[in-house]
Amino acid sequence: MRLSKNYIEEAFFKNRDYYELMEHRYNAAKGSLTIEPVTKEFIFRALESLKPGSRVLEIGCGVGSNVKWLAEHFSGVTFLGSDISEIGISYALQKVGSLVNLGFTVDDIQDSRLESGGFSLIIAQSVFEHLTDYRKAVAECFRLLGDDGKVVVRVGNGGRPGAGFFGFLKDFAKYLLRYNRAENLNPTFVINSEDPEGRRKQHMENFDICSIPSDVLSMDFKKVGFVIHSFTTCRELSRLTERYGNGNALQRKLMDLYINADVFPFNHMGRVTVLSASKQVL
Ligand SMILES: C[S@@+](CC[C@H](N)C(=O)[O-])C[C@H]1O[C@@H](n2cnc3c(N)ncnc32)[C@H](O)[C@@H]1O
Repeated sequence: MRLSKNYIEEAFFKNRDYYELMEHRYNAAKGSLTIEPVTKEFIFRALESLKPGSRVLEIGCGVGSNVKWLAEHFSGVTFLGSDISEIGISYALQKVGSLVNLGFTVDDIQDSRLESGGFSLIIAQSVFEHLTDYRKAVAECFRLLGDDGKVVVRVGNGGRPGAGFFGFLKDFAKYLLRYNRAENLNPTFVINSEDPEGRRKQHMENFDICSIPSDVLSMDFKKVGFVIHSFTTCRELSRLTERYGNGNALQRKLMDLYINADVFPFNHMGRVTVLSASKQVL
């Protein structure tokens, strides 16, 4: 099935339920940042390296909860949150309050109207998997960044391994045969469960337009001229922390190796990819 413009309208332009769910999550978090630890680490590291006065763009900011938190805690830089959805941005605008370093705008990152070279950092948390042509967004990120620009991207699907041992073998074979590619998915964008947990699951599982393996994502960034710094996964990290968090020294050491290794298959072995890249060699 090819996704038509109507689908995008159903998903993002008219789908108030989707943004209400995000707003509900924001209220439930009571002011804390709802980003996984590894992604947070990548974002903080990038923010800490910025010169005062730098401009940061969060694309696909939804209802603006993360960028609001960042603006409160990194007051030396200016943040702009952008999203294709007027509904999302209307919730986001209510969060600006007295923050002078925070703004929001409606913008399509596949065809942005923002100025070239205007930003030192772009953050994309759970956005690329929702785009009809994420490669256009990769090119737009490159255009929007200044020469010192960096990007931190988190994609919530498409890593490895697939389910179970055979899933892993299949993914590994694909990798060896260079058969990796982004795949179109068939979301229905419906959120209709009565139960809050069911609604959360529908939100997680029913809105991805494509699945992007981590190495494919990194290749696409390289193709437009980005230099990749690191990419890793994080869902497995939280699972491992749960399992081995109180484990013995050997288990913790193994977990460290798993998380920090730079060679395949370790840096691909998760469904979540976190990638950081810059326009120039740093
Ligand atoms: C899963 S939400 C992530 C929201 C936020 N980044 C977060 O982590 O809470 C994906 C967001 O991408 C936005 N989006 C989808 N297509 C877009 C596009 N072409 N340009 C900009 N934003 C887009 C959606 O409106 C939605 O708010």
